[in-house]
Amino acid sequence: MKPSATLFDEPVPAVARASWPLPEPALAYFPNARSVSDRDLDAGAAIHLRGGVDVADQQGPFGHVPVLLDRCIELLAPALTRTAADGAGAVVVDATLGAGGHSEGLLRRYPGVRVIGLDRDPSALALAGGRLAGFGDRFTAVRTRYDGIADALAQSGLAATRSVDGVLFDLGVSSMQLDRTERGFSYSADAPLDMRMDPDLPVTAADILNTYDKAALVAILRDFGEERHAGRIATAVLRRRASSPFTSTAELVELLYEAIPAPARRTGGHPAKRTFQALRVAVNAELDSLRAALPAALAAVRVGGRVVVMSYQSLEDRIVKNVFAGATASRTPPGLPVELPGHEPEFSFLTRGAERADTEEIERNPRSAAVRLRAVERATERGQE
Ligand SMILES: C[S@@+](CC[C@H](N)C(=O)[O-])C[C@H]1O[C@@H](n2cnc3c(N)ncnc32)[C@H](O)[C@@H]1O
Repeated sequence: MKPSATLFDEPVPAVARASWPLPEPALAYFPNARSVSDRDLDAGAAIHLRGGVDVADQQGPFGHVPVLLDRCIELLAPALTRTAADGAGAVVVDATLGAGGHSEGLLRRYPGVRVIGLDRDPSALALAGGRLAGFGDRFTAVRTRYDGIADALAQSGLAATRSVDGVLFDLGVSSMQLDRTERGFSYSADAPLDMRMDPDLPVTAADILNTYDKAALVAILRDFGEERHAGRIATAVLRRRASSPFTSTAELVELLYEAIPAPARRTGGHPAKRTFQALRVAVNAELDSLRAALPAALAAVRVGGRVVVMSYQSLEDRIVKNVFAGATASRTPPGLPVELPGHEPEFSFLTRGAERADTEEIERNPRSAAVRLRAVERATERGQE
């Protein structure tokens, strides 16, 4: 898909809440879901209405408590303050703007920094755009898939390579996307089987279930959901759709309860967890987008610039790990005692393995329980694209 890079202008629709929530908390099933949970509310989050948006207030009035915000700022700080302590002249790309929590943190902490926020979801752009309007031209929102970084930078008058100081990815779906029942991301409420982050995408989750052949369905469930019962589920889907096509999340959840054997239903979370993840990844081409976006992000940062990525499921984290391993590898042939000039690693690691949230952060922000954070810094100019 060619990313559409246009400035947002959509109004914020009102939140629709789950009509029949399952008894267990949704976060247990959606490792990468950040929704306003009962636990957030128990922890003292207040509900406000702002511009028609139903939000919880813990660190701010926009519901979505940013995951590992302090750590992200700490990791980006040295890159942003190289020329001025207030970040003047530094540019950050927030590749997953969402509700704008991380962007707001950066804009507040460094009054000279400029943030370019990307999102493919026009309602996220509208929400964050309203939230961050007070920062004036220090904040620019661009509607694009995050692998459209180069086009987004061009729109802002910046080069595709060596033009920014930091890039931040906070992958997955946002609280807002999950909470808007009608978008069909959550199996805890009955809704149309949609799951498009960008409402202009051509294929919905229902289209996949109703039209893909069995081999394609098995591949999606297995490769994007790591679902052990992919074959059984695909067979059940084909049988059901022959009499009545899928339209709603509840129909799919019901089928999954029937198709997945009882012993497997009792372990590994909700039986719909993996299938919903798989369909969402397929509808939004999430992994392809990430595979293309990471090299573009690495190319975009100047020497000393940093790329920080937070993943919430293993398929994404594996991609991040592999791309970062390549970027930090030396090209000096093995066995030579010194680095050959021009062959040294392009990037260095800022994190040892994947960092996790500590118990205090998880207690404060249950969404951080699944996070894996990895970060690198550009060490050399090598890799001129
Ligand atoms: C977890 S939320 C980000 C939350 C944000 N950091 C905050 O503090 O409010 C992830 C956002 O990334 C967006 N997104 C996911 N995949 C994307 C892609 N391939 N391209 C652009 N945006 C994407 C989603 O629409 C969602 O709004």
